[in-house]
Amino acid sequence: MTVPGPVVLVGCGRLGSAILEGWLLTDTVAAQDLIILSPSEKPAAEAARARGARINPPLEALTEAAVIVLAVKPAIWRAAMAPLTPFLNDQAVILSVMAGVTAPSLAEGIGGWPIVRVMPTTGVSRGRGVASVWSADPRAETLGRHLFAAMAETVVLTDEALMDAATAVAGSGAAYFYAFTEALARAGQAAGLDATTADILARTTLRSAADSMGDDALDALIGRIASPGGSTRAGLDALDRDGRLQTTLDETVAAAVRRNREMGA
Ligand SMILES: NC(=O)c1ccc[n+]([C@@H]2O[C@H](COP(=O)([O-])OP(=O)(O)OC[C@H]3O[C@@H](n4cnc5c(N)ncnc54)[C@H](OP(=O)(O)O)[C@@H]3O)[C@@H](O)[C@H]2O)c1
Repeated sequence: MTVPGPVVLVGCGRLGSAILEGWLLTDTVAAQDLIILSPSEKPAAEAARARGARINPPLEALTEAAVIVLAVKPAIWRAAMAPLTPFLNDQAVILSVMAGVTAPSLAEGIGGWPIVRVMPTTGVSRGRGVASVWSADPRAETLGRHLFAAMAETVVLTDEALMDAATAVAGSGAAYFYAFTEALARAGQAAGLDATTADILARTTLRSAADSMGDDALDALIGRIASPGGSTRAGLDALDRDGRLQTTLDETVAAAVRRNREMGA
């Protein structure tokens, strides 16, 4: 699909920069069609400017905008949007990547524009992100999917409330993985390895495992390493004794969901 007008990126911080880099990497949005609003200079925005993007133009430039991507911190989105809304046309779509800010709060603060919420990971900068999309408006949903499809594995959620669960799995998942890596290295130390060796072994093994995961069934991947009666099987049995691995992750995700809800309330 062709986006029917300029794409306005409001906020070029960690996630905004990643999105910008992903769009340019995947040619999802041509640099000339990009308007970036950023209080301070950012390397990603400067790189986009060199290719034709406009940074902080007079706000009249927003009158043709097809989509406004809100990538500021949740605490300041109202202040960031207030000066922009008088310039938006009726067909514009508001795309929010902000965690925890619901469509009803956005609508109450902004007005009647269609809203699509997208929860991407910063892997979009390399074209390897994941993005959960939800909208009550089919046109806004299509636009949201289009803007992320080339740089992220995109899933459409059927209910806005599921955004909190998607954020708890996808948004936080990399941190759980790093925590697991750290715990594996510590366990290697407990088994007698020195700290540096344990760190190298844990990191390199898990990096390589993540690279080889592909789309294969996870139990098949496990089965390729864990033969019956072998040492990996013994380790796995201890890892999930009485279902404790699953219980730990159920509690982990539930806690993150609760916190996402509290922050959005
Ligand atoms: N980081 C992630 O992995 C991630 C993942 C999913 C969702 N999110 C969501 O993405 C949003 C941004 O997060 P972030 O990590 O990218 O935060 P961040 O690095 O702090 O970026 C926010 C940016 O907003 C800019 N800003 C402040 N006021 C503005 C205004 N009036 N107009 C335009 N830009 C303004 C800031 O500019 P200055 O730097 O010049 O102050 C800053 O660069 C949050 O709502 C968060 O929930 C983030």
